[in-house]
Amino acid sequence: MRQKLLSEGASELSYEIREIAKKANILQDLGLSIIWENIGDPIQKHHKMPAWVKDIIAKLVSEDDSYGYCPSKGILKTREFLAAQTNALGGAKITAEDICFFNGLGDAIAKVYQYIMPTSRVIGPSPAYSTHSSAEGAHANHNPLTYLLDPKNRWLPNLDDLYQKVKYNPSIIGILIINPDNPTGMVYPLDVMKRIVEIAREFGLFLIADEIYVNITYNGAKAYSLAEVIDDVPGISMKGISKELPWPGARCGWMEYYNRDKDEDFNRFCEALDNAKMIEVCSTKLPQLAIPQILGDARYRAYRQQTNESIGRRSKLVSGILGSVPELTFNETYGAFYNTIIFRDGVLKKGQKLRIEDPKIRELVEQWTKDEIPFDKRFVYYLLGAKGICVVPISSFCSELSGFRVTLLEEDQGILRKTFEAIKEGVEEYVRS
Ligand SMILES: Cc1ncc(COP(=O)(O)O)c(C=O)c1O
Repeated sequence: MRQKLLSEGASELSYEIREIAKKANILQDLGLSIIWENIGDPIQKHHKMPAWVKDIIAKLVSEDDSYGYCPSKGILKTREFLAAQTNALGGAKITAEDICFFNGLGDAIAKVYQYIMPTSRVIGPSPAYSTHSSAEGAHANHNPLTYLLDPKNRWLPNLDDLYQKVKYNPSIIGILIINPDNPTGMVYPLDVMKRIVEIAREFGLFLIADEIYVNITYNGAKAYSLAEVIDDVPGISMKGISKELPWPGARCGWMEYYNRDKDEDFNRFCEALDNAKMIEVCSTKLPQLAIPQILGDARYRAYRQQTNESIGRRSKLVSGILGSVPELTFNETYGAFYNTIIFRDGVLKKGQKLRIEDPKIRELVEQWTKDEIPFDKRFVYYLLGAKGICVVPISSFCSELSGFRVTLLEEDQGILRKTFEAIKEGVEEYVRS
């Protein structure tokens, strides 16, 4: 090529949640039956969409208007509905103009970092949902900047670490929180959120809160929305229906801009995000039409409550199976539907293995693990080959810890129990090998 073609940042783009699935598919083709614990898709884990929700969508499908374009920022009535929901929280006040729809939150995440100056950085949690850390790293042509979530302290953020990093790195312009968190299942407590708002205010930063799981809490927890705590600091909340409804195939999410009037730079940034959507014309229309009808239906709250209670029960069941394995650091979860389980220091070593009966599968796993790869990735490949369980190594969530992420989604109790008992067996055999 005449000039260098690929940006340096492209090397930050990786998504192990799907990469591991490629390996699992290869083994599946060899006849191994796979339990998919890699992706947060409730539908794939046998969740049944209620009939009344399907009826609403079916009616919309039968209307011609559903097939056209919609306004670039999204359907006005839907944005008004969502603005009213946020305003009812009693914190930051917004109008429909402060909301913009995207094709899933993944699209919103890609855009939010793309239009930040490459020299300005957003610090995010570690471990992190890698779509954020990859997109942020790619925009800056650099490794992501992170503050630590501490597995020895219920996965709460280390606020000292965050404060020191913000204080001594003037390129930091924003702080990301994912609340409730993917991949840890931690819910940011109110005082922690208030402290993060204070840090942002002290250093003139803006906040990003990925709140795609904000209504998915259980076992006594409540997630506070950014709107409730942000006061006068500029910020963006990211929300969507992929997890909550759940309708991930709809590719529908949105951003809410708070306190645009408090900072002209921030206001121009929000306008740029709206313009980025405008040059694409608009986002998926049908789910936008459905949102006020479904989320505004009297049956929705009970449905969500029941679904959350089920996740809470599964969280306890997993805790009962893996919570007392001495080689693991295990935390109970209170939000979203994942758990991240960490191997204690020194437990993982070179050359550890699981017995794999099928010679073809054994050979492949040996080939995948013959070079130096992170210890937890090696464990994950062996677990896949030996037990057919597809989890994601935590080293691929922008973390130096060794562990793996599982989901709390399997609706079939029998499969759920069997899966986690097999993971326990796998861990025990692997660490003793
Ligand atoms: C924290 C978080 N944000 C965003 C997304 C992406 O959501 P969407 O399906 O709307 O692109 C996910 C998906 O797993 C997620 O966990």
